[in-house]
Amino acid sequence: MINKERKPTAIERFLLHIHPNKIDAEAIKFTKTFGLGGISALLFVLLAISGILLRFTYVPTPESAYDSIIFLQEKILFGRLLRNIHHFSATIMVVTSFLHLIRTYYSQSLYFERSKNWIYGLLLMFLVLFSNFTGYLLPWDQLAYWAVTIMTNMLEYIPIMGDLLANMFRGGDMVNGVTLLNFYNLHTGVLPLFFVFFMSMHFWLVRKAKGVIVSESTEKEMVSVFPNLVVKEIMLALIVLAAIFLLSIFIDAPLLDKASITISPNPSKAPWYFMGVQELLLHIHPVFAVFVIPVAMLSLFFYLPYFKYSKVNIGVWFNSKIGKSLTIISVLFSFIFTLIVILISEYIIDFSSWVPKLPLLISTGLFPVLIFLIPTAGFLYYWYKVKNTGFVETVMSLVTIIITSYIVMMAVGVWFRGEGMNLIF
Ligand code: HEM
Ligand code: HEM
Repeated sequence: MINKERKPTAIERFLLHIHPNKIDAEAIKFTKTFGLGGISALLFVLLAISGILLRFTYVPTPESAYDSIIFLQEKILFGRLLRNIHHFSATIMVVTSFLHLIRTYYSQSLYFERSKNWIYGLLLMFLVLFSNFTGYLLPWDQLAYWAVTIMTNMLEYIPIMGDLLANMFRGGDMVNGVTLLNFYNLHTGVLPLFFVFFMSMHFWLVRKAKGVIVSESTEKEMVSVFPNLVVKEIMLALIVLAAIFLLSIFIDAPLLDKASITISPNPSKAPWYFMGVQELLLHIHPVFAVFVIPVAMLSLFFYLPYFKYSKVNIGVWFNSKIGKSLTIISVLFSFIFTLIVILISEYIIDFSSWVPKLPLLISTGLFPVLIFLIPTAGFLYYWYKVKNTGFVETVMSLVTIIITSYIVMMAVGVWFRGEGMNLIF
């Protein structure tokens, strides 16, 4: 506790803006949050510092970008280390922010006064992905050029506005110097500003909700944040920093040959976190893969805190015992079912010639979606109506099925797609 006779130091005063002086003892247990929000915040700071340093040598033009990276890696003291730190912090930030989303969702921390913070969280997740994506182009190597080409081509499938959006991002009808400059400005100027704003709101709302979630049933025991919480935070931060530095010393960020507009690598893949969408595109109509399904999923995620739930057990993992069992079963169901649907669509049914007289939007769009939806709806109906599982748990099961399915598609795309995007085992 801060001693009343002594004035708090500048650091303590700063920390008191983020934390209250006293905090519930339960809230500082590591397993409450796994420190994932804090780690993501630390990674952002690391990215901002390393990013600002990278700007000193980076040149955002197609002629010089690649050479400036080679120059940085080979001629500047610790240049390679700096690039590796930026690269690994960015990749790990996707994972920690996502796991933090999972933690807040499954520990029932997104309802009532925290619902707004869930929305800010989703916006932060979008920023993490978009920052990664815009950064991906900057090295201007074959990996960067073709991944961004694939992703911006996907945008063209969005009905009505697709071409406009794709051309706006690219600054033309193909990835070129204007795209690089656009991405550079977004990456090093606009997006970091948004980050600072949304993160400030996010932290403020955690503070306003009187800290992280604690289950309502527990007896409250208040302890002071100094040193109980702050020491834990510092220890975790040091471990994360050490891990990133070690990783960056021993493993190099990838850099292929300089981008060539004429020779595309085979296979050409999207960045790993978007591979789920590219995998989906291989199976169903592009309008469904890049528009209908993503919009439906995003709407569901944004709406999650606002459904009329019957009984929410704030701060209780999986809401109840049955919720926990159902989540595990949903993971298994979705894992096996997604794999089966991928294999069927790859080797057994060619949807485009299956019912040839129908428009492609129906035969290759609606049909495969129904093949997925009907058994999923049956699964959920069985648990909700027959097994009398609560509404919170049933929605959780749906969310689990969607998340697992995306992860399976992403993993198949990243590890099991080879030349010509054929399946390899
Ligand atoms: C103030 C903030 C930032 C600045 C000034 C900045 C600056 C830069 C610069 C100059 C590069 C090109 C050098 C290179 O590719 O090695 C780069 C690359 C990159 N940045 Fe950032 N960045 C910032 C924040 C972020 C954030 C928040 C993320 C992700 C969450 C991120 C992800 C990436 C990625 C993935 C690359 C490509 C790295 C590679 O493999 O080479 N950056 N950034
Ligand atoms: C840049 C990314 C993010 C940063 C830096 C961040 C940071 C934090 C921190 C430090 C906390 C308090 C401690 C903790 O729970 O670990 C927190 C809480 C929270 N975050 Fe995030 N967050 C990020 C992304 C997200 C995402 C993607 C979501 C979900 C969509 C989310 C939703 C929440 C919610 C609902 C809380 C309140 C949890 C509670 O009261 O227990 N955040 N965040």
